[in-house]
Formats: sequence, structure tokens, C-alpha cells
Amino acid sequence: MKIGFFDSGLGGLFLLKKVIKVLPQYDYLFLADLRQSPYGNRSPQVIYDFTREAAEYLFKNDCQIIILACNTASALALRKLQQEYLSTSYPGRRLLGVVVPTIEEVLKYKIKRLGILATKATIESGVYIKEIRKLNSKIRVFQYSAPLLVSLIENNSLRWAEPILRAYLKPLVSKKVEAIILGCTHYAVLKKRVQKIVGPKIKVISQEEIIPQKLADYLARHPEIAGKLSKTGKIIFETTDLGADFCQIAKKWFGKNIDLKLVAY
Ligand code: DGL
Repeated sequence: MKIGFFDSGLGGLFLLKKVIKVLPQYDYLFLADLRQSPYGNRSPQVIYDFTREAAEYLFKNDCQIIILACNTASALALRKLQQEYLSTSYPGRRLLGVVVPTIEEVLKYKIKRLGILATKATIESGVYIKEIRKLNSKIRVFQYSAPLLVSLIENNSLRWAEPILRAYLKPLVSKKVEAIILGCTHYAVLKKRVQKIVGPKIKVISQEEIIPQKLADYLARHPEIAGKLSKTGKIIFETTDLGADFCQIAKKWFGKNIDLKLVAY
């Protein structure tokens, strides 16, 4: 059985690229819902429905475990899917998100003032604040939503990003945060730009630096899951919409030519 990787768009490829460096032996099925992305400005119910449909597709296609490589889906759908869908529809399978593993790692840095930059839906869900509070009640958390960034990134329009990014980061910098979590898998592509804007004193945390090791640790702790995974090192890339631009972006972000296959569910 495979490891499923889901993102609304292609940002999850940054994560997958690093995951296969750490865990090259497994088989992966990557799915991007490009037909309906971006999710970040949509309502909670719609994000939940889209994520559930994607999860259903990945489970039906032989995924033992699915990583929601999307903060928006992790924020709005993960908990409910785990509680209301997984145990009845696919008991024994696993659905993991990216928010809690990121927080667990970042709290080790002993930061007192933390900034979060994420999509509108992720910020409005309050998931980062809620999950951080469960583990540490003292840390001050400041969050800001960046509704335009995913569209700029997916449309290969980063030349317009600079002033927008500055405006989104200003409220966090003015709160004197010591670190900023890039709480959207697409923002990995902005890491250097963000670092340049906020300066060297603020640590910029991108999830592809954290999630691969967290997944490896999870599989080491759960041999009953890892033992069901096939190991031929094959990766399948699928999307619900396919344009020439998507293929080019996917190649750029994943670092090599990939065969994106169009699917419907
Ligand atoms: N990569 C998704 C995330 O991590 C992008 C969200 C979107 O589609 O707006 O939140």
C-alpha cells in the first residue's frame, strides 16, 4: 500500500520532495486538487467536503496513510475526518496533518513570541493558536492571513509578490516575533524572500524542514502501519486539472520532470 500526499495545489510537492529524501523506499500517490484550488479563501464546510472527497479517492486507491500536505485542509478538515469518517469508513488507515507536527517542533526552540503566516481559512480557524495553547500556555502567538499569496505562487507571478509580502509581514514584525511559521505549504517557495524582508534576527520556519523527519518518526513508532507499506520507490503524481503551466511549475518545484496525470473523482 502507498503513502498518499494531498494538497489543494502543488505546494505539497515541496514537502514530498523532502520526504522522499528521508524515506525513498516507499511508494507514494500525490494528489493536487487543482480544479478547485486554492482552498484558502473558501468556507470551512467546502474545504471539509473537498478534503473528504480527496481522502476518499486516495484511500480507494490503496493508500494506507494520507498526509494532508496542506495547512488549510489540516486546519478545517483533519480532526472531523479522523473522528467521524476514518473510524467508520476506513478503520486501520491513517490520516495525518501538518499543523500539530510543526507546532511540536517549533515549541522546542523555546520562543516567547511566535508569528504565523497562513491562508485566510487557516488563520480564521484559529487552529495554530488552539494547538499551541494545548502544549504551552505562555508563548505569545500573533497570526496574520495572506489571502493573495497562493494565487500569486500558483500563477507563477512572484514578481508581484514583494510589496504584498511586505504588507503581510509588517504586523508580525511590529509585534517583535522571534520566529515566523510559514503555515502554508506553498509558502516554501517564498522562504528566502520572507527572510530578506524580516531580517536575520527572525527565524523563518518552513514545513518541509520539519515534516519529513516527523513522518519518519511516526512510521518508526507505528510498525503496524509501516509494515503495510509497499517499498518499490515509485511515485505517482495526479491532479484534478491539468494545464501546461501546472506541468512547468510542478517540474520546477519538484526539481525534475514529473508525469502529472489527470484524474476525476
Ligand atoms: N498549500 C495549502 C496550505 O498549506 C494552500 C491552501 C490554498 O489552497 O489556499 O494551506
